[in-house]
Parts: sequence; C-alpha cells; structure tokens
Amino acid sequence: MGSYEAAYRLAETDPEYFWLVAARAISWDAFPKKALDSSQAPLYRWFPDGELNTCFNAVDRHVRAGHGDRDAIIYDSPVTGVKRKVSYTQLQDQVSRFAGVLAGLGVSKGDRVVIYMPMIPEAVVAMLATARLGAVHSVVFGGFAPAELAARIDDAAPKVIVAASCGIEPNRTIAYKPLVDEAITLSHHKPTATIVFQRPELPAELHDGDHDWSVLIENAHPHECVSVNATDPLYILYTSGTTGKPKGVVRDNGGHAVAMQWSLGNVYDIGPGDVFWAASDVGWVVGHSYIVYAPLIVGATTVMFEGKPVGTPDAGAFWRMIEEYKINALFCAPTAIRAIKREDHEGVLIAQYDLSSLKALFQAGERLDPDTYFWATEHLKIPVIDNWWQTETGWPIAANLRGLEPMPIKAGSPTVAVPGYNVQVVDGEGLHVAAGVEGSIVIKLPMPPGTLPTLWGDDQRYIDSYLMTFEGYYTTGDGGMIDEDGYVFVLGRTDDVINVAGHRLSTGSMEAVVASHPLVAECAVIGVQDQLKGQIPRAFVVLKAGADIDPSVLEREIVQSIRQEIGAVAALKEVVVVQALPKTRSGKILRRTMRAIADGRPEAIPGTIEDVRVLDAITPLLKSVKSETP
Ligand code: COA
Ligand code: AMP
Repeated sequence: MGSYEAAYRLAETDPEYFWLVAARAISWDAFPKKALDSSQAPLYRWFPDGELNTCFNAVDRHVRAGHGDRDAIIYDSPVTGVKRKVSYTQLQDQVSRFAGVLAGLGVSKGDRVVIYMPMIPEAVVAMLATARLGAVHSVVFGGFAPAELAARIDDAAPKVIVAASCGIEPNRTIAYKPLVDEAITLSHHKPTATIVFQRPELPAELHDGDHDWSVLIENAHPHECVSVNATDPLYILYTSGTTGKPKGVVRDNGGHAVAMQWSLGNVYDIGPGDVFWAASDVGWVVGHSYIVYAPLIVGATTVMFEGKPVGTPDAGAFWRMIEEYKINALFCAPTAIRAIKREDHEGVLIAQYDLSSLKALFQAGERLDPDTYFWATEHLKIPVIDNWWQTETGWPIAANLRGLEPMPIKAGSPTVAVPGYNVQVVDGEGLHVAAGVEGSIVIKLPMPPGTLPTLWGDDQRYIDSYLMTFEGYYTTGDGGMIDEDGYVFVLGRTDDVINVAGHRLSTGSMEAVVASHPLVAECAVIGVQDQLKGQIPRAFVVLKAGADIDPSVLEREIVQSIRQEIGAVAALKEVVVVQALPKTRSGKILRRTMRAIADGRPEAIPGTIEDVRVLDAITPLLKSVKSETP
C-alpha cells in the first residue's frame, strides 16, 4: 500500500487517531483529548477541548525556537517599486504592537475586525493581530464596491475597521478610504473606529473616529497572545452564494491550524525555511490559507506580490520573482498562466530566468484547462499540479499530494480525494453514479478539520445551503465525475456561481442589479467561456414594451451600475438585448439550460423546453467565446 492509500484509509477508519497525530505539529495551550465532536451533528466540531492561539503558532513559536531572523514575508510591489523583507522577529514586533492598538480601541476576544486592504504586509499584520487577541477578522477584497462592503459590515458587526488609504491597480490608484466611508454610511451597524494605513501614493483625509495606523503603532504596547478554544472562530470570509446576501464562511482556530500545517507539507511539499508564493490576494481564501496562515504556521517564507502577472512590467514578472527570491513553489489561478501565455506564447521570457529553485506550479481557483496545463508543463518543465477546493473547505479537497506521494497527472483532473475528504458523485436522486458518469460532487459528513463548521450567526442557513440536498453529505455546488482510477474531474458549478479570472462571483446578485434598470423587463446573467478569464458574465435582457434605448447606452448604464453596486471585479462588460428568454411552461427562466449550453454540455438540457425557437436564438450568444482582447 502506498503512503497515500495508507493515509487516506487511516483518516477514513480512525479519524480520531489520524487528526490527533496531525495536531501534534501545532503548539497548544491545552492539547485536545478528543478530535471529533459529533454531538451536534450534522454540525461537527474539531478538537473541542483544545486551546491555542493561531497567531502564536504563526509567529511567536518560530521566534522562540530561534528562527527570528528567518524571512517571514517577502513583499515585492512592482506597482509602487517597493521591495521589503520582514523577519519573524520583526513580524512579532509589529503584530504584537498592532494587537495592542486594537486592544486599546476596545477589541477583545470574539469581537470582529473588518480589514479592507490591498496586498501589503500591513494586511497580514492586521489579520494576525486580530487573531492574537482571540478576535475574529473578516477581510474584504479591495475590488468590491461600498455596497458589498456594507453588507459584510452589517453581517459581521465589527468593532473596528482597518483599511489602507488606497489600492494600486496598474491603470489607476483607487482611493479606499472614501469607499469605506460610503460603506459605513450605507451600513446599519456603525464600527467605533477606523484605522487607516496611509500609503504615500494617495494618503486619505481622516475624520472623527479615524486613526492613523503609524501614529497608533508608534505609541502602542505589545499585547500577548490570548488563548482561545479550538472551536472559537478565527475569521469570517464572505463568499458568493446562490442569491441574496453573501455567505459568511466561518473558520475555527484549532482545526484550521492543523489543516494548514498538514496540507502545506503533504499537498504542497513545503516545510520550514522554504519559500512559498501564492500569487493571489489576501481577500480570497487562497490568500488566507496559503499567503498568510499555512506558510507562517509551518515557519516557511511567504511572498506577497502587489502586481499582475502581465504588464508589471511585462509577462516575465513571475519568473523574475522566482529567480530573485529562489521561490520553491508557485500557486496561482490558471487565468494568470493564460495571461502570461498570451503575451509570451513561445516562452521567450521564461527562458531568460533561472527557475531552478521551483519544484512545482500549483493551480486552483477555477478549472485548469488542458491547453494551459500542457503549455505550462512544456515551458516550465516541472510538475503542474491542479488542486480543487473552495472557500468553504479552506484547503484542498482533491489534489496530487506532492509531499505525501506524488502520482501520475491526468490533464483536466486535480487527481484524487485528499485524506479526510470522502468525495462521491451522485445523481439528482442522491444515488451514487458509476465511475466516469457525471453528477453532483458531494462530500460525506463529517468533513475534515479546517472546513467550515457553519455560516456566521446562521446555522440554519448553513444546513439549508449545503446539507439538505443529499442527507449525510455536504453539497459542493460543483458537478463532475470520478474515473475508474479514483481521479476526480471537476467540470463546473451546478448553481449560479461563476468563476471570473479565479474570482468567485454570483450571477444572481448581478441579475438583481441588471433587473433594477428602469427599462429592463427581465434578465438572466450567465457565465460564458472566455479565453483569458475562463468565464465572464454576459447579461441577456428583455426590454419593457415600448422601451426605446440605444443598446450601447443601455450596456454602458448597466455596466456602470454593476461596478457601482458590486465592484469592478464583477467584470460584467457585455449586455445583449434579446426578444425573449427561454422559459418553462410555468414561466421560469431556463437558467440551468442556458448555463449548460454556455458550458458546452448540452446533454444537461431537460426535455421540457417549450420554446425551442427562443432557445435557438440565444444559443449562439451563449456559445460565442470572447476573442482575446488586450
Ligand atoms: N482592488 C480594486 N480593483 C480591483 C482589484 C483590487 N484588489 N482587483 C481587480 N480590480 C479591478 C481591476 O482593476 C479591473 O478593473 P477595470 O475593469 O477597471 O480594468 C477589474 O477589477 C477586473 O479585474 P481582473 O479580473 O483582475 O482583470 P484585469 O484585466 O485587471 O487582470 C488578469 C486580468 C488575468 C491579469 C488578472 O485577473 C489576474 O491576475 N488574475 C489572477 C486571478 C487570481 O489571482 N485569483 C485569485 C484566486 S486564486
Ligand atoms: P472559491 O470559493 O473562490 O475558492 O471558489 C471555489 C470554486 O472554484 C469551486 O467550487 C469550483 O467551482 C472552482 N474551482 C476551484 N478550484 C478548482 C479546480 N482546481 N478545478 C475546477 N474548479 C475549481
């Protein structure tokens, strides 16, 4: 039996033993006597009697062990021209003092802190300082508009907001502080204070209740780590659901720390002192798990890159980084590789750099299409490893476990179920399908440590959203199949979540904005294929009777309101006026059918289509792939 099979079986047959052994790699204030608590099933908790502090594990324990001089963070920002390294000792100093700042503003165990910051080390400092106090952070991605930030403020009810004065995109500098102010105006909950990290590129005007980060930290006293229960929340990360308000995915402290430590070694083959670069953003789950927590908990060096894969300054930016910092593994979304491939198809820039430190390229966040996989494999000459997971799980569900037992790669598959995840494929009735047959991908409960225990303040919504469709199983929302070798293939979402450039978005919330246009009678927003971003949203609208508007004006107005209400990251650029939308007899828009056509999977079309003519008219618009635009 190979190491993978042995580990998988042990996690399945004796999860108590498996996870208590894994837990030994974490520093506890009280080591847990028990791994799994099923007393509230289907709500499961891990390490119920364990006590620890996540920040201690990510920072202080490495300093105590004599590794204070090791780089904790390498920050490289081509958009500002700044490069900076932060050692573990320096990180401990900054984090403990910023924890003192937060405590001085009344933040204590269990309180929430919303963080709205770009890719700068201070974002990590704010996260860890919150964790140090046993408080709960909620990082909001900078590409979201004030209304989205306001919805998160209302749900999390933070005591304090920590923001930067601005974010820097290659084509513009975005003043963050006015966005925060607008969000606070829109929200019902009002935080008591806002701390602003002033960036020289665009300092913000401060008002009553605002504090300057630098002034506060200069006078701050370091704060010690506060011990919390393993089951206490570490963070809330909001993610797009099917409709309505975003879902506040909760991450606990103990299960998360164990899963981070276990996965970085076993999946990504990264250990203490290695240099790991997840080219994502702290606002997404990849950023939480693999920019911040996993590398720091393990005692590796993490890389923060404030830039884009192309144009900062060219498509060689990633390779320059790898050479300069001797990076051992790179993790990014396939979109980033597609962007590079488009500019440097022959790999001329790749060949100019010394990439000998790089052991593997990890890909996640969206489907890794075979073209991109083959291109990257050919030009980088290292294993290109797909791994599949989601905000809810926090770490890979399916992967090729490079540290445990590397396996042959099959293009289009993230390989096998990771130990702890019992992955199955079922049909609409919840019956298991045969190998190679497509269906809904589900995970048998309980899921392993580190996965979401619930949604913030709403156990019932958690149960209704994920656990009700197939009893005893967590519904991933993804469709796919498992082949006869046990390889998992993830083929696309079964709901209205789409992945645009690796960014998870809800077409339902976009539809709500499109439908609010005064001339729109009804609409559907569908993710259509895009050569760069994988998917992009396209809006199909039926105008009200007698409405008279130039389609390009309508498009401009709708695009603008999406940017205003959801944010630039939604990337809705195309609005198509159609005569009618395909519907069922009872008048429901056939969104699933439209999605199936857009995904190129017409077999999913039900037999009850009433108006074939309407569907025929719309089909070419759903199938057309956007040509490569600069
Ligand atoms: N703050 C404010 N605005 C942001 C932002 C942020 N943090 N991130 C993106 N935006 C804006 C962009 O400026 C852009 O605005 P525009 O329409 O005015 O140009 C819009 O949101 C869409 O951004 P994006 O989808 O990133 O497109 P892009 O054209 O700027 O860049 C890529 C294209 C491929 C280079 C880029 O999407 C990329 O690097 N993708 C990798 C994805 C990734 O890391 N995902 C994380 C999950 S693993
Ligand atoms: P997020 O919660 O933002 O990480 O997005 C999770 C969703 O992205 C999943 O449910 C999938 O639809 C998609 N996804 C992530 N990784 C992969 C992958 N490796 N292959 C296919 N789809 C993926």
